Amino acid sequence: MTSHASKSSLDFPNDLPEAILELKRERNALLLAHYYQEDEIQDLADVVGDSLALARAAQEADCEVIAFCGVHFMAETAAILNPDRVVVVPDLEAGCSLADGCPPDEFAEFVAQHPGAKVLSYINSSAEVKAMSDLICTSSNAVKMAEQFAGEELIFAPDRHLARWVGKNIGRDDLVVWPGACVVHEQFSARELAKLKVRHPEADVLAHPECDQAVLDQADFVASTTGIIQRAVEYPDRPSIVATEEGVFHSIRQQAPNKELIPAPGADESCSCSQCPFMRLNNLEKLYLALRDLEPRVTVPSELATRALQPIERMLALS
Ligand code: 13P
Ligand code: SF4
Repeated sequence: MTSHASKSSLDFPNDLPEAILELKRERNALLLAHYYQEDEIQDLADVVGDSLALARAAQEADCEVIAFCGVHFMAETAAILNPDRVVVVPDLEAGCSLADGCPPDEFAEFVAQHPGAKVLSYINSSAEVKAMSDLICTSSNAVKMAEQFAGEELIFAPDRHLARWVGKNIGRDDLVVWPGACVVHEQFSARELAKLKVRHPEADVLAHPECDQAVLDQADFVASTTGIIQRAVEYPDRPSIVATEEGVFHSIRQQAPNKELIPAPGADESCSCSQCPFMRLNNLEKLYLALRDLEPRVTVPSELATRALQPIERMLALS
């Protein structure tokens, strides 16, 4: 058995992956990881998935501890679905520009300006915003969730790019949109992508709906991370230009080892445009400490959790 006697944060076991697996067993913990996590974390996880798959895995959890390797809103959703379980994250600072760019007090005012409108919120939002919503969606079910509100005034928050893509798919241009954006997907440059496509005319361009319209217009396929991975694996011999976080490459390479994957470019060649700075705050060392110390925890006050739970459960029932 690995010794956890030392409490020094710097005193890490030599075989960190093995120590994490052992702690996971000792804690009776479920390890959930988003596709944007570093490869080593994905390799240790019980479930690796997109936001919808991870919310479902959290709903079905049968364990004492959930260790969530993703960003804060994901762990918060898991905590809302599991009020009696301990939910820990490697790094409490792992936020999201979409969730953080939609402050609950300002969103409450925004909603109040549209009396009678229904509210559909992307899962990339805070518990407070979820609690003000009629329904939650992820990128993989956003179109279906929006279709539930045919004929009704509908607020969509907080991603304006996803909102526009959903509107196009359901033939509506009247959605009331909170103007947020993902700092990662918004950085992909349509101009540089057009140049890259000239150099790789055979490539399949795969994009996440959080991208700007000028990027989506050049895509052969637009989908959630799971959809992008499935499409890439479906054509193992065709190169893919991928306009999402490059963490998805790991899963694609596991299933299609010879596949050529080309990250979509940003405007500035020197940027790590396809890495989410929030997701990448997590690492094996912090995950080890989270499981060892059961800190940092993500908790949601019970009254708030009860209100936020309803639209999440509605989404899971409809998905
Ligand atoms: P999905 O994995 O649900 O497509 O979400 C992408 C994302 O940006 C999560 O923050
Ligand atoms: Fe948020 Fe964008 Fe990072 Fe996803 S990739 S967690 S939407 S900042």
